[in-house]
Amino acid sequence: MSTAACAGVRPDSAHPWVATPATIVRIDQEVPGVATYYLELCDEKARSDYRFQPGQFNMLYLPGAGEIAISVSGDPAAAGPYAHTIRRAGNVTGSLWQLKVGDKLGIRGPFGSGWPLGECQGRDVVLVAGGIGLAPLRPVIYSLSKWENELGRRVLLCGARSPETLLYHSQYLQWIEAGWQVETTVDRASPDWNGHVGAVTLLLERLRSVDASRAVLFCCGPEVMMKFSAMVALRRGWSADRIWISMERNMQCAVGWCGHCQWGPAFICRDGPVFRYDRIAPFLDVPGL
Ligand SMILES: Cc1cc2nc3c(=O)[nH]c(=O)nc-3n(C[C@H](O)[C@H](O)[C@H](O)COP(=O)(O)OP(=O)(O)OC[C@H]3O[C@@H](n4cnc5c(N)ncnc54)[C@H](O)[C@@H]3O)c2cc1C
Ligand code: FES
Repeated sequence: MSTAACAGVRPDSAHPWVATPATIVRIDQEVPGVATYYLELCDEKARSDYRFQPGQFNMLYLPGAGEIAISVSGDPAAAGPYAHTIRRAGNVTGSLWQLKVGDKLGIRGPFGSGWPLGECQGRDVVLVAGGIGLAPLRPVIYSLSKWENELGRRVLLCGARSPETLLYHSQYLQWIEAGWQVETTVDRASPDWNGHVGAVTLLLERLRSVDASRAVLFCCGPEVMMKFSAMVALRRGWSADRIWISMERNMQCAVGWCGHCQWGPAFICRDGPVFRYDRIAPFLDVPGL
């Protein structure tokens, strides 16, 4: 099991459990039930030190409500404020939903391993995203869009429940202009939808523009979707060591101390959330792990 974590600079690396205050400077409503919060660290030094790798997450702390893991969804090359795209799920995200621009919360991070962008060098790259799973992949899109001759084809396959829940829809044209082939599918079509209907794995099944034997695949979404995407990819000729998925479990410490996020022999906060498929495939088949 790989324990290699990408180096990010934490607001206070010596005290990774201590949250740093941050101000909400902008909120973008994305799709129903999902908004992107742009957070600016209040401390000037923490602000200038902060860096993250695509795929890493922060812990957001709301006093009186709790603390949750949220991926950083913006451009790693930008100096901040830092985007966090959040789906309203329960207690903490529901409390976050009540906040407005100018309000403060606590932030600590970044934590975890990032997507291995170095593996993309000279290869075709396929990103497979289900719903909010596009949020941790968006920094990959920003980063790889700046690569010029080092990549083969760039493909983004997105699945959503319905056309109006396709995340970051307004950016697709920009990504296409940056060289991405963007394909979308929905579970339930609306009357004016003339795109694909069905699981995102169908898009992967039909994809012919990449050389599967040499391509890299990064996948993020519901666990079952990632498992089936990996199965399809293997059938299409991908090698298991070029498939990466991002796992989720409830987190507490986020630094490998409490065991709360344990998944088989791995702690998702420390050893993941991004894992190479061949290293974790046996655990995906264990129910309730
Ligand atoms: C590494 C990592 C990165 C994440 N990145 C994002 C992100 O970018 N955007 C985002 O919106 N969410 C993300 N999440 C999920 C987010 O942490 C949870 O949705 C959040 O903790 C829910 O907290 P809550 O108190 O609002 O809901 P709770 O009251 O804890 O739960 C409400 C409902 O949601 C379910 N639930 C809670 N957590 C999860 C989860 N992790 N996966 C699936 N179902 C869950 C519960 O079972 C319950 O049914 C990430 C999680 C991890 C571990
Ligand atoms: S959240 Fe504590 S070990 Fe991962």
